[in-house]
Amino acid sequence: MEKRYTVITYGCQMNVHESEKIAGILEEMGYVRGGEEDAQIIVFNTCCIRENAENHAFGNIGALKKRKKEDPDLLICVGGCMMQEKGMPEEIKRKFPFVDVVFGTHNLYELRHLIEMKQAGRKKILIDIHDKEGEIIEGENPSRTSYPNAWVNINYGCNNFCTYCIVPYVRGRERSRKPEHILSEVEKLVKEGYKEITLLGQNVNSYGKDLECSMTFPELLDKVASIEGEFRLRFMTSHPKDFNEELVKVIAKHDKIPNLIHLPVQSGSDRILSAMNRRYTSGEYLAKVKMLRFYLPDAELTSDIIVGFPGETDEDFEATMRLVKEVDFASAFTFVYSKRKGTKAAEMENQVPEEIQKKRIMSLIELVNAQTRAKSEKYLGKEVTILCEDYDTKKGMYLGRDEYGRMGYFKSDRNRIGDWIRLKITDCSGISLYGEEV
Ligand code: SAH
Ligand code: SF4
Ligand code: F3S
Repeated sequence: MEKRYTVITYGCQMNVHESEKIAGILEEMGYVRGGEEDAQIIVFNTCCIRENAENHAFGNIGALKKRKKEDPDLLICVGGCMMQEKGMPEEIKRKFPFVDVVFGTHNLYELRHLIEMKQAGRKKILIDIHDKEGEIIEGENPSRTSYPNAWVNINYGCNNFCTYCIVPYVRGRERSRKPEHILSEVEKLVKEGYKEITLLGQNVNSYGKDLECSMTFPELLDKVASIEGEFRLRFMTSHPKDFNEELVKVIAKHDKIPNLIHLPVQSGSDRILSAMNRRYTSGEYLAKVKMLRFYLPDAELTSDIIVGFPGETDEDFEATMRLVKEVDFASAFTFVYSKRKGTKAAEMENQVPEEIQKKRIMSLIELVNAQTRAKSEKYLGKEVTILCEDYDTKKGMYLGRDEYGRMGYFKSDRNRIGDWIRLKITDCSGISLYGEEV
């Protein structure tokens, strides 16, 4: 009988891609992808960016207690960012002693070895966490799940230490992959038929700063975009402090790079931006948006915004609302500030009460949604090209995104995943567009 595995992922694209690497390791061990119900190995790839991400993981790991009792051969592994938090592996051991293996983000490549050690008859939970990031591991063989998109790491870690954020503590210092490794991976993926490549880094603009050969992110992007083949080239995330004219010129030079920039602003208040250690002012952010629209008048922006950061007053929040109106984001991820142990902001006074945070997030979501809807309505009657990426079983429709990240739905009686589709938009709802193939 086939042995099955499943990987349960929380968090960002970085984690989604790391789960593909975990899947690759398990497949090399002879396991086949399966559902949670019939898997003999279940791996949790956790996230600790906000408290609710952790609570989800705790809940779902805890839910396996009964099944593990009935089936002692079931192997439960827990890895990811949460495990890099001080004291967390011990907490897992205390709360869920039935877990088999605990590993971290810095030793994912050892998973096979850890599983084999556990399977060799070790009774107790096996915990192996590396406190420090090691050398970059090349030659991994991810089992990709996001065709026609392929994720490609360009740099790992973060040195920015925004005061609210736990990522620098759990992902270590910035380190870049060598350009030749990135270029050959992308060339291979394009040859294999991937139609969208997304370059990944916590701050892609820091790319190359630690390399012996001199290479900046715009230079790398230019080289990747020059690879032959029909594909879209996306990247995330750009830190506004490092977003510059050189990068915008590369975007303008290549048709392969969509004119859509994810540029997380976090707040519109200079006082809060400074307390967040973001190292730009709202004025500087707006000047960069202006510069982007000078070179690319049709460019769209998306963002991440936090409300309820310690000390945020009504005036600070109003400044965020004003900035959102001024930039007119195509869409934005909005978050309520979540206190993360070990970060500077967790020690700050004036933590904002929950009721106020809730009120603010509701107003912000309402504003962002209204802007998104207004942009959707402009699509009515127009034609767009989407890259079909999935099938929505509930709607009974295929879906894909246009270059600005707009989701377009359409009906077809054959599998269209991976096809470029020209759609005439006939209807819209929120961020979603509906259309007919032309
Ligand atoms: N490296 C990326 C993404 C980091 S995490 C960047 O710098 O943009 C994604 C988003 O989560 C952040 O942009 C921020 O908006 C949000 N975030 C991070 N820490 C948070 C916290 N403690 N509470 C609420 N939101 C947080
Ligand atoms: Fe976190 Fe800031 Fe680094 Fe992004 S840039 S990962 S928000 S510390
Ligand atoms: Fe990503 Fe969450 Fe880790 S957002 S880097 S998976 S803490």
